[in-house]
Amino acid sequence: MAGKCNLVSVLGALLVLTIFHDPIIVYAGEGVPNVALFAFGDSYYDAGNKVFLLKKNRNLPQNLWPYGKSIDYPDGKFSDGRIVPDFIGDFMSIPNGIPPALKPDVDLSRGASFAVADASILGAPVESMTLNQQVNKFKSMISKWTDDYIEKSVFMIYIGTEDYLNFTKTNPKADTSAQQAFVTSVTNRLKNDIGLLYSLGASKFVVPLLAPLGCLPISRQEYKTGNECYEPLNDLAKLHNEKIGPMLNEFAKKPNSGFQFTVFDFYNAVLRRIASGRSIHYRFYVANTSCCGVGTHNAYGCGMGNVHSKLCEYQRSYFFFDGRHNTEKAQEEIAHLLYGADPNVIQPMTVRELIVYPVKENMREYWEANKKSIRRRRRPFRASYLDGLDLSAYY
Ligand SMILES: *[C@@H]1O[C@H](CO)[C@@H](O)[C@H](O)[C@H]1NC(C)=O
Ligand SMILES: *[C@@H]1O[C@H](CO)[C@@H](O)[C@H](O)[C@H]1NC(C)=O
Repeated sequence: MAGKCNLVSVLGALLVLTIFHDPIIVYAGEGVPNVALFAFGDSYYDAGNKVFLLKKNRNLPQNLWPYGKSIDYPDGKFSDGRIVPDFIGDFMSIPNGIPPALKPDVDLSRGASFAVADASILGAPVESMTLNQQVNKFKSMISKWTDDYIEKSVFMIYIGTEDYLNFTKTNPKADTSAQQAFVTSVTNRLKNDIGLLYSLGASKFVVPLLAPLGCLPISRQEYKTGNECYEPLNDLAKLHNEKIGPMLNEFAKKPNSGFQFTVFDFYNAVLRRIASGRSIHYRFYVANTSCCGVGTHNAYGCGMGNVHSKLCEYQRSYFFFDGRHNTEKAQEEIAHLLYGADPNVIQPMTVRELIVYPVKENMREYWEANKKSIRRRRRPFRASYLDGLDLSAYY
């Protein structure tokens, strides 16, 4: 009797194994295929690379408390916890986020971050890498992934902040034509670097627009603008941002290019959240000063050993954790926008749509200036305590 039972259960187990062991395509997370995520850029997407580029062993603020406070572990990321690529990785069923590419012996099977704090597009950043150097690093490691896998995987790029902060510091009186000339040199180089990634086999690109750089707490503090933003920096970001959609359209419109992309309007997403210093609509109580740091906007020196920085009591009520980077809660909200917001926030498609878009096909819709949301919204729920609150602004 016992023997028969065992035989039945062994047969059952075999049957289950045959059914589930030989899938034609492996799907994960609501129909999203198992592909990799690669991130390039600066401190926003640095997953802990910077420490591996130091000439001498020393502690970096981002590897020290209170960075990582919400996860009880500072790991070289500029946040109290996880960052946007970690959340996007979560949505793609990538366990534990993507590792820093420069760290020895990490599991690269689901992608990596090549982004490094202080990275710029132009120049020769100290103990960091330009975007071009990051792309070349990727090239040197390319045999770790198949061509087919690279083509299906997602490439996120966020860079330019260092270039414009540096330009404004060294050319405080630059007029519009000098600004325009600098932006053109930055975006031309960016175009080259994206072209290089594409020539290496990448075909799915996610490029967020730059934040309103003059509204970052560190800019308001350094340029002493109080509750206003420092407009020359916003102007540079706007000039830069205007070029991104058309540049990517150009790649994607070439016949049989298979070049696919989407552009996230990070500029306006940030602006909406910081507009009144508070942003109750978006559930941040403080949006004009940082949680961690010193100075008028608490924007400098978070994590630095020689700075007596202040730390807010409850980081989840803040939009900015340090002078320029968001709290984990804000990063999670931003990642949700990337993955599923309306076309006025991310277009021509969401990151999720980009992942499932058939490879080698050209896009059917391209990026358009001032795209309005075409999805119908539900009438906002109204309760008396919500009177006067415009919920349509949620995005
Ligand atoms: C900052 O600007 C200076 C002067 O233009 C340049 O030499 C330097 O390489 C720039 N640094 C970065 C990180 O781009
Ligand atoms: C931030 O915004 C709040 C609320 O609008 C305001 O009271 C405060 O003065 C602002 N802080 C700074 C540093 O501008």
